[in-house]
Amino acid sequence: MFYPSRTSLFGFVVFFAGLYFVERNTMEEEKFAISVEWYDEISSLVRPFILFYYPSDRTVEMYDSKQKKTFLKRSFCETVSEIDLYIGNKVSVFGRELKLIEYLDEVTRNELTRKSERTYAMLKPEVIPKMGKILSFIEGKGFKFNRMMLTKISATRAAEFYKEHLGRPFYEKLVNYISSGPVLAMELLAPSAVRYWRINLGPTDPVVARSDAPNTVRGLFGTDTTYNAAHGSDSPEAAARELNLIFNNLSSHYESSYTIKTLCLVKPHVLQEGKLGALITAIQENKFKISSVKLQRMTLTDADQFFLAYKGVWDDYPAQIKHYSSGPSVALSIDADVNAFREFVGSFDPNTAGKLQPSSLRARFGYDTIHNAIHCTDLPDDGAREVEFFFKDVGSLH
Ligand code: CDP
Ligand code: MG
Repeated sequence: MFYPSRTSLFGFVVFFAGLYFVERNTMEEEKFAISVEWYDEISSLVRPFILFYYPSDRTVEMYDSKQKKTFLKRSFCETVSEIDLYIGNKVSVFGRELKLIEYLDEVTRNELTRKSERTYAMLKPEVIPKMGKILSFIEGKGFKFNRMMLTKISATRAAEFYKEHLGRPFYEKLVNYISSGPVLAMELLAPSAVRYWRINLGPTDPVVARSDAPNTVRGLFGTDTTYNAAHGSDSPEAAARELNLIFNNLSSHYESSYTIKTLCLVKPHVLQEGKLGALITAIQENKFKISSVKLQRMTLTDADQFFLAYKGVWDDYPAQIKHYSSGPSVALSIDADVNAFREFVGSFDPNTAGKLQPSSLRARFGYDTIHNAIHCTDLPDDGAREVEFFFKDVGSLH
């Protein structure tokens, strides 16, 4: 018979306790911790919190750093995902805009910087009339749009943008082409975004792309080496340089010479559902010209300021305003008669639109009065003012 001695018994206990401890630790749920700030618009105070994010079930929790207690119990929040969690970004947690300040541990830093890499992507002038289709392609690959604007790059800026190619035979032609018309500038987010976008962009020459990688942007939408549809940064360093050059130095394209204008504001739910490209395609296929594009994050105050005239008119006004502040929205300026575009957008309630105007935008992309896809200008006299709210006063919204 084996009778364990007291020391071996002690050894067993220590061994199993250790196993239990290791097991508990390896089973501990992954949790990211980020310090955030919430600007409380009512009290005009900045309040510090810790935001916890649990990737396994995509829930969030908020801890009040000042009061030292839990502020929001762990709950699912559809407006926050891992890819949004990078320093400097703002996320909306149940209507509260939180600015991300700092990763609070190594695991959070390593995991999240890998998951939300950024790259610079740009649609070149020749594909602007079919940008909706390319945006759908990008959404279908799982990229998130973080910044986006239709802009014009001057020849001097284009020369700077492509300076690595200075002296190459195609340089001048390339610079002239890029500065010949508006381009759609985008900051895309995805895990390993730089490499992932290059793969989806395809080879530089669309003819090669069509034979070697047909299901790429250049394979599907490119013509030749000059007109090759889109650009993609070739390293994270290049992405940082290009993003800075474009987004911190240029503004969104706006032409005051168009006298007939209407605003089409694409609501946050359309972007969250990955349908921005499809909606823009519908507009472009109906021969409405989109002359400006800009993605912005509206605060409650921005939305309240813009929609003030509807206070007391819409019975769901507070919920409408809240939806506009729940995530990025995209403003489009359409060179069209306000009434003609309104008819294409359809009735305010998508259920009515579904019955009366089944091919309207709200019938196709909306499902209730809050999630009705679009705000469009109501009165012809308001067109220019509404468009200018988003495009003229650059810097007021971001
Ligand atoms: O854009 P990508 O990074 O694939 O190619 P690149 O070698 O960095 O060249 C930049 C751009 O210059 C290309 O996208 C082409 O539009 C243009 N190019 C050209 O016109 N002729 C060449 N032989 C090479 C590039
Ligand atoms: Mg390149």
